[in-house]
Parts: sequence; structure tokens; C-alpha cells
Amino acid sequence: MNEEGRTGSRPGSESPLFLVTGAAGFIGSNLADRLLESGFEVVGIDCFRSYYPVSIKRANLQPALANPRFDLLEVDLASGDLDLLGERTGRDRQCVIIHLAARPGVRDSWGNDFATYASDNIMATQRLLEWAARRGRIANFVFASSSSVYGNARKLPLSEMQTVPCPHSPYGVTKLAAENLVRLYGANLGLPSVSLRFFSVYGPRQRPDMALHRFLLAAFEGRPVEVFGGGDQTRDFTCVDDLIDGILAACSVPDGAVYNLGGGHRVSVLEVLSIIERVVGREVLRIRSEQRPGDVADTLADLSLAREKLGWNPRRPLEEGIAQEAGWLKAAYRL
Ligand code: NAD
Ligand code: UGA
Repeated sequence: MNEEGRTGSRPGSESPLFLVTGAAGFIGSNLADRLLESGFEVVGIDCFRSYYPVSIKRANLQPALANPRFDLLEVDLASGDLDLLGERTGRDRQCVIIHLAARPGVRDSWGNDFATYASDNIMATQRLLEWAARRGRIANFVFASSSSVYGNARKLPLSEMQTVPCPHSPYGVTKLAAENLVRLYGANLGLPSVSLRFFSVYGPRQRPDMALHRFLLAAFEGRPVEVFGGGDQTRDFTCVDDLIDGILAACSVPDGAVYNLGGGHRVSVLEVLSIIERVVGREVLRIRSEQRPGDVADTLADLSLAREKLGWNPRRPLEEGIAQEAGWLKAAYRL
């Protein structure tokens, strides 16, 4: 939904209030900034989990916090008092909920950490759905799902209609469980919703555990990078600007369906490293280490449904997007 969105809403008069959960994170803070730039009012929700430095999340939110149309609510969706959301959103105002809060990351979802994945990805979603269904006047509950729900599928591209979800990591299991919860609150209780499967998102503010962030930082600092497995695994990398265009388009489509949001190009880890060498202007030493449990071989999104129903198409060429992330990283780390 943009200023002239398909629901006819415009910033101001009758426009909905946007509730963005996970607003201090990588995608959430970029989304909050875009909504504010477009003139909307945003309530951002986050509990500043520390699986990466909280100082990074506080920095992500600085531009939004400077905007009088932004309201931050620090609450833990998995255990906190969700009546606080009611106080911030009022009784009669239409709301669009964009639910991004989660414990992300495929490779850390084993062992004792699984408890936080289950709690932040499944319980938090269930509690937010209960609150939303009770409140009513929800124009759309937009859920951030993941390409990880597909698992190690043999056939590409990965299709919402034809590929049977079969997660390959505990993280993927929690995202698929949450996606199913969203679907059945729609089917049973009439909560309008849509689920979006994001594919390896990159760009300014990318999480520090993710490949491009780690590779670019190592390249700037002249350190070697660690390549998990052979480096011939491929990903459909998605630029955060394109992703946000897709999320906003889906806000106007509460049809209970699931849509892939991918970047439109499948590139191997070794090819990405060559692009990074061009962007940074320096050779990068590769150190091979074993493949990590949970990592899948390949991803590639079938985008035909998103093109047809959301009118969305990713546009940013990969090298340009990587250069954009490199520019942000240089400034953020004062390199
Ligand atoms: P992120 O870690 O940067 O942001 C998530 C935010 O959620 C964090 O700021 C965290 O503090 C907050 N949070 C976690 N649990 C919470 C809780 N119980 N209550 C309130 N806040 C809580 O992650 P991201 O990369 O921006 O991912 C955002 C969403 O997109 C996640 O749902 C993730 O699963 C999904 N996703 C991301 C990618 C990607 O490539 N980044 C790909 C597929 C799906
Ligand atoms: C990413 C996100 O981290 C997940 O939150 C998200 O749900 C998932 O995308 C998704 O698309 O669903 P991943 O593809 O593993 O997961 O993201 P990256 O961290 O960008 O890793 C890409 C590839 O680089 C992986 O094969 C990984 O093994 C490899 N890698 C990563 C390395 O070789 N070295 C590193 O230091 C980091």
C-alpha cells in the first residue's frame, strides 16, 4: 500500500494505523522508515532481544524515533501484556499489522536456543493473533514467513502451489507452524491475513549473522571469509527495498494466501564473493569449513503468483544492492 494504495487509503484522513512488530530489526526498521516517509502513522513493537547487539537495534530505530508519527512500544509479544497494544491503537481505528518479530536465522536454531525460537516465533504469533482477532477492525494481518519452510526441495523454482513445504531446520519448522496459525485464525475466526515467504534478504541494516554482512565486513577489514560447505550452494537474494515494495503491495491483499517474495536471481556463495571483491575493490581469502546443519542447497522463488496477485516485481540488480549495503556498512562501522 502506498500513498495511493489499492484500498484507497492515503496518509491522513481515513488511513489505517500500521503496527510493525520487530520494528527495531533489520527489515522492521527499514519498513517503519518507508511507512513514515509515505506519511503513515506507525506503532513499532519490539523487545530488543540480544541475539545480536541491542546497540545495533537502537541505532536502527533512530530515524523513526525522530518522527512524531512513530510510537515505540517495548513489549515482549511472547510473554508481555498485550493489552498495552490496545491502549496505543485506540478502539475504532483500522489497523494493518505487519508481524516481523521473531528469532530469525537458520543455523542457530538447534540445541537449547530452540526454546527461544519456539517462543518468539510460535507463541508470540499465537498471542498476537488472539489479540488481533479479539480487537477486530484489522484490515490485514501480514505475516513474515520464510523460504526456509520449503527445506531442501529438489525442484526449482519453489512454488507456493506446487512445492510441498518440508523444513530442513528447526527455524523453518517454527515459521511453518506460525504460517499455519495465521491461516487458521483466518479460516476459523475471519481474521484477514496474508503470509509472505521472504528469501535471504540483504541491504542496509542487514543482521550481523548473515552472509553478506559477514563477507562485506571481512572484505573491508582485510580478513578471510568462512565459506560453509562447498560455496556452490545458491540463494535467491532479495534486496530489502524490493522486499518492502512487496510487503506494502500485500497490505492491500488480505486474501489468506501465501506469496513468495524473492529477488529474482539465484547466485552461489562463491559468485557473491566475486561480486563483493568487485564492489570493495579487494581480493578476499576464502576459508572452507563444514556445511552447517539446517543449511539448504538451493533456493529460487517462483514469483508468478506475486506478480499476478500483488502486481509486484523485484527490480534491484544484485551488484547494485550489494554496493548499497557496502555503503551502509562503511558508514555504520566507520571503516
Ligand atoms: P531481526 O532479528 O533483525 O528483527 C526481528 C526483531 O524482532 C528483533 O528486533 C527482535 O528484538 C524482535 N523480537 C523478537 N522476538 C520478539 C518478541 N517476543 N517480542 C517483541 N519483539 C521481538 O530479523 P530480520 O532479519 O529483520 O527478520 C524479520 C522477519 O523476517 C523475521 O520474522 C524473520 O523470520 C523473517 N525473515 C527474514 C529473512 C531475512 O533474510 N532477513 C528471510 C526470511 C524471513
Ligand atoms: C536467511 C536468514 O538468515 C533467515 O532468517 C531466513 O529465514 C532465510 O534467509 C530465508 O530465506 O528464509 P540464509 O539463506 O542462511 O538464511 O542466509 P545467509 O546468512 O545470507 O546465508 C546464505 C548462504 O551463505 C548460506 O548457504 C550460508 O551457509 C552461507 N554462509 C553464511 C557462509 O558460507 N559463510 C558465512 O559466514 C555465512
